[in-house]
Amino acid sequence: SRVDVGIVGGGPAGLMTALLLKRRGISAAVVERRSQEAIRTTQRAGILEAPTVDMLVDAEIGSRVLTEGHEHEGTVLSFDGVQHRIDFQELVGRSVWLYPQNEVFRDLATAWQAEGGEIHWEADDVAVEGLESEAPVITFTDAAGEPGRIEAQLIVGADGSRSMCRRLIPDEVRTDYFTSYPFAWFGILCEAPPTAPELIYANSEVGFALISQRNEDITRMYFQCDPDTDPESWSEEAIFDHIQQVLGGEEVVQLKRGRIIEKTVLPFRSYVCDPLTHGRLVLAGDAGHTVPPTGAKGLNLAFSDVRALVPRIVEFLEGLTGGEGLTAGADDVGSGPGAPADLTAPLRRYSATSLDRVWKAQNFSWWATNLLHRAPDEDEFAHHRRRGEFRAITGSVHGQAYFADSYTGWAGDRHD
Ligand code: DHB
Repeated sequence: SRVDVGIVGGGPAGLMTALLLKRRGISAAVVERRSQEAIRTTQRAGILEAPTVDMLVDAEIGSRVLTEGHEHEGTVLSFDGVQHRIDFQELVGRSVWLYPQNEVFRDLATAWQAEGGEIHWEADDVAVEGLESEAPVITFTDAAGEPGRIEAQLIVGADGSRSMCRRLIPDEVRTDYFTSYPFAWFGILCEAPPTAPELIYANSEVGFALISQRNEDITRMYFQCDPDTDPESWSEEAIFDHIQQVLGGEEVVQLKRGRIIEKTVLPFRSYVCDPLTHGRLVLAGDAGHTVPPTGAKGLNLAFSDVRALVPRIVEFLEGLTGGEGLTAGADDVGSGPGAPADLTAPLRRYSATSLDRVWKAQNFSWWATNLLHRAPDEDEFAHHRRRGEFRAITGSVHGQAYFADSYTGWAGDRHD
């Protein structure tokens, strides 16, 4: 088919981009390697910042986030069994919402398909060509084994943390920044009611644990483990005893236990691709940057990318047709009279704006990870130092406000 924008990746970043472009009268088609069922049943994070919720509501894709999601006005940080509540509303006047990413995906996929949006699930051999030409193309083999082809003006690479698209940005122009961590998360889903009204992020001498939520009957929890851990090597009883130990004694909080229905080990790292664009390609979401899960930033960053990107795509396409109003040439430093306007300038502006926010989120995610985990080779100095850092955060309204402002997504930073 022939569309304005071809999108590689049918996760939240790709689908949100497709829907918002459609709202602006721009056609898009999406190609995704996985099946809809596989994406819908993969456990991902669950915390949405207010601007992420607003995007779902404003895009008119149904307001399940408002009816099924839960507003959280604060969270609990726990260190060596002592709990401190961070009151987001009181500190910064904002909340976050617990609404699992699987549900976000389901809402977006349902809306896109109900509106007749083109999407090819389970596509194989996905490739992109012609990024340096005026006619980029996505080629693939569809689920029925037939060859597929999407001709577009622009390609959005929203193909996740193992992105194929980002490798299309040539080595000479691309810088990859990354760091890794000497631990991973052991994630479980269990048949238990919520342990507490809000999430608990806990650190102790035996490392990190997070008690999140799903609904009245199902709970999501994580604890720090070695990246090489075999999920089957931990029994149900050992898992709950360990998490209870991280939280402190049962007099602090009594962990609600239940049958474990899923166990997975999630290794993590931090990654940034700079720039997020080359020729007729732009990257959005995890394809351009990955954060460790501690700060709950991944999906929110993907949505802030989309928020920044869609107006720049509009501008780029208007520039191509010489449309009235905004033209790309206006920002093109050095293009004198007669020089061809640099049509891709809006895309580079997107990259700069997005990376600005991405590095802020990278910092918070890295910082929160180090604050809340125990490194395997850590000495006693490190544990005491971390307790000092923890006290500096929880013991002062300014420290608490730093955490609350970052966790809820930095007001005054909306680049739309
Ligand atoms: C969840 C995951 C996170 O990484 C986080 O910081 C908070 C919640 C979750 O899966 O619910």
